[in-house]
Order: sequence, then structure tokens, then C-alpha cells
Amino acid sequence: MNRVQLSIILLLICTSVVTAGSDGTFISSMDVLKWENVATGVWKASIGTKELASMDYAAPLKLKALSDMGQAQFPFEPKDTRGQLNASGVNIRLPLGASEKIYGLGLEFQGLNRRSNVYHLKVDHYGGVKGYTHAPVPFYVSSKGYGVFVSTARRPSFYVGIGNRKDSKLPPYVDRTTGGSKWSARPISDAVEVSANGQGLDVYVFGGKSPLEAVRRYNLYCGGGVLPPRWGLGFWHRMHTRSSDADILKEVADFEKYDFPLDVIGLEPGWQSFAYPCSFDWDKTRFPEPKRFLDQLAQKGIRVNLWENPYVAPTSTVSEAIKPYTGSHTVWLGEVPDYTLEAAQKILLDHHQKNHLNIGVSGYKFDEVDGYDVWLWPDHASFPSGHSAVQIRQLYGLMIQKMFMDRFREMNKRTYGLVRSSNGAASSLGFVIYSDYYDHEGYVTALVNCSLAGVLWTPEIRSARSDEEWVRRFQSVCFSPMVQLNAWSSGTKPWSFPKVTNIVRDAIKLRMRLLPYIYTAFYDYNQKGIPPFRAMVLEAGFDATEEIVGGKLDGETNPYAETTRLETTDQYMMGPSILVTPVFTGQKSRKVVFPKGNWYDFYSGKLVGNGETITIQTKLEQIPLFVKDSGIIPMMPPVNNITNTKGTIDLEVRHYGQKENTYMLYDDDGQTFDYEKGICSVTELRVQRQDGKLTGISSTIESKWPSRYGQISWKFMSQ
Ligand code: GAL
Repeated sequence: MNRVQLSIILLLICTSVVTAGSDGTFISSMDVLKWENVATGVWKASIGTKELASMDYAAPLKLKALSDMGQAQFPFEPKDTRGQLNASGVNIRLPLGASEKIYGLGLEFQGLNRRSNVYHLKVDHYGGVKGYTHAPVPFYVSSKGYGVFVSTARRPSFYVGIGNRKDSKLPPYVDRTTGGSKWSARPISDAVEVSANGQGLDVYVFGGKSPLEAVRRYNLYCGGGVLPPRWGLGFWHRMHTRSSDADILKEVADFEKYDFPLDVIGLEPGWQSFAYPCSFDWDKTRFPEPKRFLDQLAQKGIRVNLWENPYVAPTSTVSEAIKPYTGSHTVWLGEVPDYTLEAAQKILLDHHQKNHLNIGVSGYKFDEVDGYDVWLWPDHASFPSGHSAVQIRQLYGLMIQKMFMDRFREMNKRTYGLVRSSNGAASSLGFVIYSDYYDHEGYVTALVNCSLAGVLWTPEIRSARSDEEWVRRFQSVCFSPMVQLNAWSSGTKPWSFPKVTNIVRDAIKLRMRLLPYIYTAFYDYNQKGIPPFRAMVLEAGFDATEEIVGGKLDGETNPYAETTRLETTDQYMMGPSILVTPVFTGQKSRKVVFPKGNWYDFYSGKLVGNGETITIQTKLEQIPLFVKDSGIIPMMPPVNNITNTKGTIDLEVRHYGQKENTYMLYDDDGQTFDYEKGICSVTELRVQRQDGKLTGISSTIESKWPSRYGQISWKFMSQ
């Protein structure tokens, strides 16, 4: 810190520190935050001086889409929003109503409502600590319909309705001896308090009438959601790490033999001449002619994704060039580039472009950008840019995504890949998060929570202990942002559990059939900020009431025990109208919570429920899917490769329920950024009642790109 910065801090401390409470007790006062309206329905307050922050990595905001959403009210009484810069950092205090629920704060594997807890948000390999996760996104959404984002590269702590300031509205005092269950170890507080080290940060507030509106505004402010290349939504298979080019070609032939879709092959560490740390150079024994190999796959329409971690091996051909731009410490003895520096970015990007992208590689899986403390650089490491080790670690995954995304954009090619850490402002980046934590239920909860944080998640499958688990995990991953079998260590193939091969194939083929619907849902993410896979709390008509269960002690009800919340984290929405309810191993039945309105069985079209919780019996052959009344679902034939599907594609358009509806089917070239210039096609699919009968009509709305869709056959599922 220089002298000027120090004196600014001291000045701020002097103007806002100590006041006496009315009874003379010590209270440190906080300044009222000054809000600036930065886009329709979005406000920003700055505290202290500008530092490196996640919002620096956002794509240009979607101003028009934000203004198309219309005005929103600032959700707080401005005088009740407080901030303070002191010697240790920044504190913020924002009001919280007694019955408000708070969602978000990034990729969590458990629970949904973040109230009455403390989250220390730290990029970390998942270890079960609240807030230590692959994507600790400092964004929360209130059940009242607004969102708050704290833009920082530090590790902010969120005290969500916990911690009672002396000058706040305190709950009633209860004597523990006589108060029974009224006494609480966590007295309710009237605020969310956030603290972070450093010299300053920005806070953003996103208005809305519903949690979905707040999430949409956040996504749009960060540039809108990513529109993946079409091939990215097909089937991904990651090979065993020791595979050679010949092994891969053999496996690809097996996919054809077994009649399984395949769009992307993922190569794991062994494609490199050295890995952990990485050389980023092809291994000459396993891949003697990388271009020829990539061409062979390209002919079959198969893309290739390369695994790597960012730590540079001494044997790498970029090692010498990158050295001046690396930090004081190593990771697995590899140098750690400082990617806040453009020169470092350029060295790595040019190497990747020349050796991989120019010969046909489609994207990357950036591993180990989270990592435990025992693996990564220590907090006292130093970096040439002068940014702290903590700041660089907290944003490392974000930086790498952004620099590659920008390079792909320069090449006018979309990418879709994987990353193991992210942060705020990431919605426009073409990367999906994954984890080594392999809990099926936790994976579905993560998918749900990611929709509240502007990031995407894949509940990838690796292996299973039984046929049943293999099926259940496959069925879940087929209804997620990326359908991936990660066989880097298991060497599994989709047909590895022969008794259930047909069921697994059916699940993948159903995913392929739904591609027109899923691709359009991603376009809505891009243009309107609507997450393609969404938590139920983002769905209109969903009652998020929780059951509070008393704790038990020695078999008896313990009135003093903490309560446990039962939350709907095991079902979610896909696109505008499909409700996905994964089944976990051993479940012969499961509960489904239906939002208000009629819901129909996807497979049979029969009415199943309306605004109620029902128990359904499960079948191994099917993941239960339900469709909202009037849902229109365009489906294509189950192709085995998206890129090599040429010519027109005929559609079956399904309609569920009895109501009229309109659906805008989107299409474009599926691989460039030309859609941003409006080069796309939009077809209106309308269902209306004529003479008492439902009829379907399709009309072209936009045709700057020739739609691939041909004949439409309408199927009224609930007639
Ligand atoms: C892990 C990663 C796995 C796999 C493996 C390869 O860190 O989570 O998906 O890529 O590295 O060594």
C-alpha cells in the first residue's frame, strides 16, 4: 500500500469510526452506501478504492435486454444499506426481512436456503466446508426477488441473517432455562453482513419481482449466458489417461458398433509429453501425428477437448518464455503463470493456438485451478503483477476461462469446455464446472445451486457400483448442461454395464432428441439471462415453504436441537417447461413437488399433479420427466453425431395439456459468433384451439440463417 492509499484509509476510518450509542456504549458506525443506477434495474455502490475484481472479467453487459425487462424497484430503504472501510478491509450490511429466504453463494453440494449460516467464500477443492468450493460466487438471491453481488478478488465472508449488531433490531430475549424451543443458538438477525480484506470493492443490487428476475438481471449484466456450440450439447466421452491415438480410434469405432452417440472425445493428462505439471506439448509416442489424428476424428464430426492444469513443466516448450511472468512458488514443481499480465496470457494463448487450436482442437478442460491449500501456492506467495496470492487464486479459473474465451472469439469459433473453478461474472463463459466429489445427490444439488450463481455444472459419470447406479447417474447427466462420461481412470464405456446398455442408450438418445429444445433454452440464457437448468425456486408457482424438523437426542425429541431444513434440491427445470426429477440408487419411489398449474407425464402425456407434492413409483428404464401445461417441445431424430448430421431435420413437436401456447424455436450455424449479428433463424411454433381442437401452426419469424428444420409433425400428447 502506498502513502496516498494509506492516508485515504485513515481518513475514512476517522470519518466513520466510533460513535457512542444513546446509552454511551461503543458502536462503530457505518456509512450509508451511495447507489448509482448502472443499468435498468441494476445499482452499484463502491466502497474504498478499486481493486482487481471478478466483474472485470464480465463480457459487455446486455443493456438492451436489461432495459427490455423494464424497471425494477430498489429493494432496500437506501438509508439502511451500510458500508465501512477499515484497516482490515470492507464491511457491508444490507437489510434482511424476518421471513426472507436467501439462495445462491455459488456451487454448494448441500441445501438451498443459505439463511442462518456463515459462508467464507474461498476457491477450493470441495472438502465439505461451507463456502469452500469450486465456484464460491458472491451473489445471493432473496425470495423477495432481488439479488446482491459483491465484486472482489478477495475471499468474502457472508453472515446471512446471523450476528446481531448492538444498533440493529434485536429479536426478543429468551431465557434458555425456561424458554424451551424459543431459545436459539442463532438469534435471528435483520441483515446480511459481508466482509472482505482489501482496499475496496463494488456491490451490485439487481432488482426484480421474483428470484428469476434478479438472476436474469445478474446474468445479463455479466454479458448474458453462454450459447455453446451445438456439438457441445451432444455426448462427451473422456478417454483413459494412457490412451494413444490408436486406442481412441478403436473406441470411436466401438461407439459406432454399439450405436451410441458421440460428439466430443476428451483427452486426459497422457496426451502431453509431461503432466503434473504440464508441458502443453503433444506426447510423441502416443500422438505422433496430432493433426492427422484430429483430422480423422473431424471427418466423423468428432471434436477433441484437451485436459490440462495451468502449471508449467520445465520440459515444456513455453517454459523459458513464461518464466518472467510466474509467481514465487510452484505447484507440483511447475511454475505458476500470473495471468493478470497480458504478456503471460499471450505466451500461453499463442502456444495453444499454434499447437492445438490451429490443427483442430475444440477446447479445454482446465483442471486443478481450485485445489487444496496443500497443493496450490501459499497465501504468502508473490506474483510479478503485485496482486496477492489470494486474489490470483480466487480468480485463477475465471481468468483462464476469460482469456481462452476471448481467443476463441477472435477466431470466430465458439468453444465449450470444462473448468474446476470459477467465480462471479462468469455466465457468458463457455465452461462447465465439475468435481472429484462423486456423490450423486450432491451432484444434483450442485446443478440446482449453480443456476442461482450464473455458472454451469455437469454431474458427470465416471463409474458405478451397480447396474442401477450406472443407469441413474447416466439418466441425470443426460439432463444437464454437459453429458459426459469421464473415464480418465476407470476406462469405462457407456456399454460397460451390459445388462443396462439399452437403458443407457435410450437416455442418451432422448437427450439427442431434445437438442432443438435444449439449444433454444441456451439461446434464452444468452439473450434473456434465463438459466437453461433451474432451481425450482426460480419457477413461477413453486411454493418454497420448508418443513422444519426438530432435532433428536438419544431417541427423544430435543427441544433445544438445531432445526434441519428439508429443501427441494432433487428436482429442477430444464428449459421453459420440462421438470426433471432424477432418481437415486435404491429409490423405488420418490416425491415430486409440482408448482401450481397442471403437470403432465412426459412419456404418456397424462395429467399427474397440480401445486402439490405427490409420490411417484420409479422405473429403472426412465428418468421421471414432467411437462407444464401448454408446454411445446420440439424433438429431432436421435442422431449419433450432431456435426455430421447434414440436410434438413424433420421435427416432432409435442404439446402437453390443454392450453394454447407459443414457442420460439431458435437455430443458427451452431459454431460461430455470427448469431450475435442476428444471423440466425427463429420459427414460431403456435398451438391454438380451432373448433375445440388443438392445432399446431409454424411460421418463420427470422431467417437470416437457413433453418435446418424441415417437416413438422405435431403430437398432442394429452388429447
Ligand atoms: C483430476 C480431475 C479428473 C481427471 C484427473 C486426471 O483432477 O478431476 O477429472 O481429469 O484429474 O489426472
